[in-house]
Amino acid sequence: MCGIIGCVGRGAETLDTLVHGLSKLEYRGYDSAGVAMAGDGIALCKTAGEIDELRGALADRSLAGSVGIGHTRWSTHGPPTDGNAHPHQDCHGDVAVVHNGIIENYQRLRDELVGAGHTFTSDTDTEVVPHLIEDALEAGHDPEAAVREAVSRLEGSYAIAAVVAGTEAVFAARNDSPLVLGIDDGATYLASDVPAFRDFTDRVVYLADGEFARLDGDGWTVTDHSGDRVEKTVDTVDWDPEETGKSGYDHFMLKEIHEQPRALRQCLRGRVDEMAGSVDIDDLGDLSPTGVQFVACGTSYHAAMYGAHLFRDAGIPAQAFLASEYATATPPIGDALVVGVTQSGETADTLSALRAARKRGARTMVVTNTVGSTAARECDHALYIRAGPEIGVAASKTFSSQLAALNLLALGTTSTTDTREIIAALRDLPGDLQRVLDESAAEAVAETYVDSDAYFFIGRGYQYPVALEGALKMKEITYKHAEGFASGELKHGPLALVTEKTPVFAVVTGDGEQARKTVGNVKEVEARDAPVVAVTDGRSDVERYADHVLEIPETHQRTAAVLANAHLQMVSYHVANKLGRNIDKPRNLAKSVTVE
Ligand code: AGP
Ligand code: GLU
Repeated sequence: MCGIIGCVGRGAETLDTLVHGLSKLEYRGYDSAGVAMAGDGIALCKTAGEIDELRGALADRSLAGSVGIGHTRWSTHGPPTDGNAHPHQDCHGDVAVVHNGIIENYQRLRDELVGAGHTFTSDTDTEVVPHLIEDALEAGHDPEAAVREAVSRLEGSYAIAAVVAGTEAVFAARNDSPLVLGIDDGATYLASDVPAFRDFTDRVVYLADGEFARLDGDGWTVTDHSGDRVEKTVDTVDWDPEETGKSGYDHFMLKEIHEQPRALRQCLRGRVDEMAGSVDIDDLGDLSPTGVQFVACGTSYHAAMYGAHLFRDAGIPAQAFLASEYATATPPIGDALVVGVTQSGETADTLSALRAARKRGARTMVVTNTVGSTAARECDHALYIRAGPEIGVAASKTFSSQLAALNLLALGTTSTTDTREIIAALRDLPGDLQRVLDESAAEAVAETYVDSDAYFFIGRGYQYPVALEGALKMKEITYKHAEGFASGELKHGPLALVTEKTPVFAVVTGDGEQARKTVGNVKEVEARDAPVVAVTDGRSDVERYADHVLEIPETHQRTAAVLANAHLQMVSYHVANKLGRNIDKPRNLAKSVTVE
């Protein structure tokens, strides 16, 4: 999920080139960094924390070698410690590996390798790779074949770079995680993302899934899983280096909105068995809660409301609390599970609610994006949403991934009758979301209503938190007044504010009773001449009363929430962009709120 750099042919400048490359990947967010150089042996340096700390550690030592690899880590398996930082090595220190992504079958491989006498020194999934390469080398394979052999055992997503003592080459493989070569006269680079080497060359070769690369003194080759050469074209990138961090998007937020299908795939990967119709999540043990209290703030609170709804649907009493109000609410805990939802894992209000719950004897869990965060360390259980780093202050992909992870939590700890149907909808969700993002008419809607002074959002059931989230996003990045309401509440007061100048975004999905009632509420606003933007799968007749329609594919009510929310994210983004707002860093807001 984070950064990889590799380089061959820079002689005495190799180490500086690696560290420079890592610093160019810093924008992606990371929690640890490291480098390894290969010559006769392997020399390695790695630290938790920022690249400056790695520089500090390197200042006291010289790493010998002529080729090297480097990594910025965003932990998924094991907290961000020096020992878990990449590169990772085999038993003899002859192989070093960096890896982005998740090796799904690592536990099985690790058990097998430990059984065969290998010694592991980290908590990561990655460490199985150098040990598998070690075995293949010992079986007589040359380094290139040994990497292929090792990779053939892996399931999951990976971009891998490896060096082997005594071989002046960098080896790489990819599956579902980006890797690109940088081609220069006399030097070759390898990176997860172009900015890592963009200062040296603009000629690139993109690796495809299932391909392997070898970089050495003679240049580079790309092969397939059987070692046969693959012809590749060399492209030229013409991006401004300053902009490359955003992969061509104008803002991190827009990039992150578009990363959502991939983030959802990562979240679901290896956790859903479609054949068996079951969900299996590591580290949760045999949780079968008899009651659930969610605590969270802001966007994460909206995810928590959605989570509570999931559990109530499964017949388990569940409630979402604003973390800052939890202490005063003092609900009876009994043997309820208290679940903090927090992408950062550092939000002071949420930490304090979780601590209060623990003090009262509750079992606690966190649903978070940040391995090793305070909440992850303090709670009894942690469920990681695996969205990858989110740079934009306004949460976008972490919200969708929270919703997906909460579905997994509910499916994995309760029983519902429509499990298979939900699993199928989750399976289709990344593709459905991609279509929504590709085809959304959000920009045209934003253009029409950019001058409005206030926006309202309504929804029912699973779409109620979506309405609240739509309004929060609009407030945060456009600085305009926006409110979200449960559809049925509009007539109990807010309707007084509705005029021909206040667009109302109505999320109406399905054709059941909830949709019918929300359509009734839409008629109420239409009668006050308010412009209506319907976010709908077209199964109700809400379009008849709408001035604009943002379409989503037909799916389960739960997954419809993720799709509808994506349209609303895009509307807010485009309104903010047209107003020239500082979208990635909205005024007065911080990414991680560490005060109560
Ligand atoms: C989201 O766009 C906001 N920046 C904010 O509401 C955020 O969701 C809230 O502060 C909670 O953060 P957390 O998920 O890191 O706990
Ligand atoms: N899964 C690996 C780890 O936790 C790699 C994480 C990454 O992509 O940075 O160390």
